[in-house]
Amino acid sequence: MNYCVVGLQWGDEGKGKVVDILAEHSDIVVRYSGGSNAGHTVVVGNSKFALHLLPSGSVRPNIFCCITNAVVVDPEVLIDEIKTIALKGITLKGRLLISENAHVVLDYHKREDQLREESLGKNKIGTTIRGIGPCYADKAGRSHAVRMGDLRNLQQLKDKLQAIVNYKNKVFTAIYNATPISADDIFEKCKSYADIFLPFITDTTEYLHRSIDEGKSILFEGAQGTLLDLDHGTFPYVTSSNSSSLGMPAGCGVPAKYVDKFIGVAKAYTTRVGAGPFPTEQDNDIGQYIRERGHEYGTTTGRPRRCGWFDAVAASYSVRIGAIDEIALMHLDTLAGLKEVKICKLYKINGKKETFFPANIGKLSQAQAVYETVTGWEEDITEVKDFRKLPSNAQNYIRLIEKVTGKPVTIIGVGPKRSQTIFRQ
Ligand code: GDP
Ligand code: IMO
Ligand code: MG
Repeated sequence: MNYCVVGLQWGDEGKGKVVDILAEHSDIVVRYSGGSNAGHTVVVGNSKFALHLLPSGSVRPNIFCCITNAVVVDPEVLIDEIKTIALKGITLKGRLLISENAHVVLDYHKREDQLREESLGKNKIGTTIRGIGPCYADKAGRSHAVRMGDLRNLQQLKDKLQAIVNYKNKVFTAIYNATPISADDIFEKCKSYADIFLPFITDTTEYLHRSIDEGKSILFEGAQGTLLDLDHGTFPYVTSSNSSSLGMPAGCGVPAKYVDKFIGVAKAYTTRVGAGPFPTEQDNDIGQYIRERGHEYGTTTGRPRRCGWFDAVAASYSVRIGAIDEIALMHLDTLAGLKEVKICKLYKINGKKETFFPANIGKLSQAQAVYETVTGWEEDITEVKDFRKLPSNAQNYIRLIEKVTGKPVTIIGVGPKRSQTIFRQ
């Protein structure tokens, strides 16, 4: 079976944990989009890994890990990650493959991201400052793009970098009044990246198609979430890639028809980092309660996450966009202790009822959430292993989510550990 795991909200739904669990029965795990803006947490025993570029299956030995074409790779972050997991005795030798067509995030991308955000003041997007937008912009622009395969020809890369950095420096100095950067420094870094990464760089599309022919089981790991998708999310408060499952085929060269099941990951509530409309946001004691109980602080940036109720209008949109078959609902444990729990079933926009999520932010910022309120539960559920052992109000809450999204909730998270997971058929 080939699975694709994708976020149904604005990211941080718990994809890392779900991918880690499903990877137990996979041969290959594939990161197909985004970059080090992602922060996927995997908890193995007493060890906690925050993965930004390595697929979440990488912490299991023997699984092959692919970083494919549409991922933007920051080599510094990847080196750090490989070192961190090596310290825990996990080696990627012979089982990491990086697409020669994946684009490289370099220092000038991160600087451009930061300078642009600073210049926007209160209108900033609230990016992770990982250089994601500028790198994807260079990819689309083509002439200033550097791909992992370019590390194979350093002389050619040196000339290319000189031209790119000349251009970038004009922008940095003239527009942002910032200091220029050195092309030589960036080239020296690229030489060291070539030393490390050349053995891993390959044609991942060919590898994946060969693996499909051999009957291998592939797990595709989405980054970010559907509502952060560049074309289908809440633009401009999105990331710069197709982070819904629609980005999977283009991101790795494997058509969606090879995926047996699309699994959408959502939290039992909603969170968002960065700016942009969020109709069910609870900027109050409820939001604070969820933030503290759920440790809702960014894996990549440490920023406090904005918290709110489960938004079924948004989640149902993501289910449709993503051809989602089943839902993994995480952090059910976090809601324990609330007297009442709410689900947004529709929006009122200028007095009109809307059940289809408007990705247009002009409209979305006018949306007032209309809730169904259910009774909460007091019990600690972090050790529950069987759906029938959950408090009846928690069971009812899950059933309500199934009803409003039209999809079965087959995986339920009751804590960050692998063992804190309930499976339902
Ligand atoms: P991702 O980006 O979708 O992989 O999610 P993150 O790793 O950024 O954020 C999810 C956070 O929730 C991490 O700290 C996980 O360890 C934690 N987590 C995942 N599932 C659960 C769950 O069911 N309950 C609790 N309490 N924590 C969870
Ligand atoms: P994972 O994979 C949550 C958000 C940023 C910002 C917007 C644009 O861990 O779920 P970018 O740096 O991509 O240009 O920022 O997107 N964002 C995420 N939010 N989880 C993520 O990844 C995110 N990746 C980007 O906060 O609002
Ligand atoms: Mg995350």
